Amino acid sequence: MSDEIYIGLMSGTSLDGVDGVLVALPVDGAPELLAAAYLPFPEVLRQQALALQQPGENEIHSEAVLANALARSYADCVQQLRSQAPELAVRAIGVHGQTIRHRPELGYTRQTNNPALLAELSGLDVIADFRSRDIAAGGQGAPLVPAFHRAIFGQPGVCRVVANIGGISNISILHADGRTTGFDTGPGNVLLDAWIALHQGKAYDENGAWAAYGTVIPALLQALLAEPYLQQPPPKSTGRDLFHADWLDEKLREFPACAPIDVQATLCAFTATTLAQAIARHAPDAAGVYVCGGGAFNIRLMQDLQLALRENSSAAMVGSTAELGVAPQHVEALAFAWLAQRFVHRQPGNLPEVTGARGLRILGALYPA
Ligand SMILES: Nc1ncnc2c1ncn2[C@@H]1O[C@H](COP(=O)(O)OP(=O)(O)OP(=O)(O)O)[C@@H](O)[C@H]1O
Ligand SMILES: [Mg+2]
Repeated sequence: MSDEIYIGLMSGTSLDGVDGVLVALPVDGAPELLAAAYLPFPEVLRQQALALQQPGENEIHSEAVLANALARSYADCVQQLRSQAPELAVRAIGVHGQTIRHRPELGYTRQTNNPALLAELSGLDVIADFRSRDIAAGGQGAPLVPAFHRAIFGQPGVCRVVANIGGISNISILHADGRTTGFDTGPGNVLLDAWIALHQGKAYDENGAWAAYGTVIPALLQALLAEPYLQQPPPKSTGRDLFHADWLDEKLREFPACAPIDVQATLCAFTATTLAQAIARHAPDAAGVYVCGGGAFNIRLMQDLQLALRENSSAAMVGSTAELGVAPQHVEALAFAWLAQRFVHRQPGNLPEVTGARGLRILGALYPA
């Protein structure tokens, strides 16, 4: 592989917006970030995407309309990136798309997007639909980022965990002996965002400031932790299909008198504990846990994670991926630039030991410029 320039676009389960990076990917050594952009989704787009998480009427039409709106958002993000470095020739865009259903047990996952429109608007090769091939090979189609985490954050002889706290949380375990494993641990910000939206009318709890003044409700925390998904052995992946507002309502039915602020604090502890239990169980020798994704900015959540690791007898120190040289909000978008490069060079992008697929597979589909 030569030193090439790619664009990576990630919009995840939080439905907050699209993170984009323009990056030089060298043969050996670290990726060089050349430009970054973040475009929040317009509220109407967010609502359309949310509506499609549940079965509803006239879904084929709604999905197609959403796909076009997303492609236009992605194209705007590409435009912003390219305006920061107009002289650079971009090899291809790697775009994740917006997950509206993730049902690997039924043999499908849907990352809505209109890559043909994005190719038309950007004039660039677009690589999209990275997850389907892994599922076709019997895998979960997720998480796909561990191979990239290994490539940029791995250190021989040291066990490191990279924890991406987006809407859902996933961990990559970069074992000391060179093996890489990983899975979705459970919720990230998705329940936190839903709860503060309901009670404070805010999209998210900035820096965890609201949760910081709440008190964890131990019985509620235990009820949340009873979710069977959390005890399932990997490979496993999840999404809004399981962890949604109705799931939380159901659990809260037995706790009608709780103060909303205490529920927020408990949800923070829930995300932190699910991560810590997974790490203690599957990476007992982890020296460090490096957090990326928007959760890295939630101070209360980061404190809870350190606490929960100690409670689960893990000596791992918690930091963000910034300590390893990559800002937390750029990691996932970089991963999709990297996966696009893998596709362009017909290199596999999945790790069968992570996803459970029958073997290594080339991930993605090309929409030529
Ligand atoms: N300053 C902040 N304080 C607290 N939480 C924050 C802050 N900034 C971002 N977040 C949280 O991070 C979320 C967005 O994170 P991110 O973009 O990594 O997730 P995502 O789009 O769901 O991606 P994925 O699930 O694919 O990893 C927001 O919805 C919010 O909950
Ligand atoms: Mg996001």
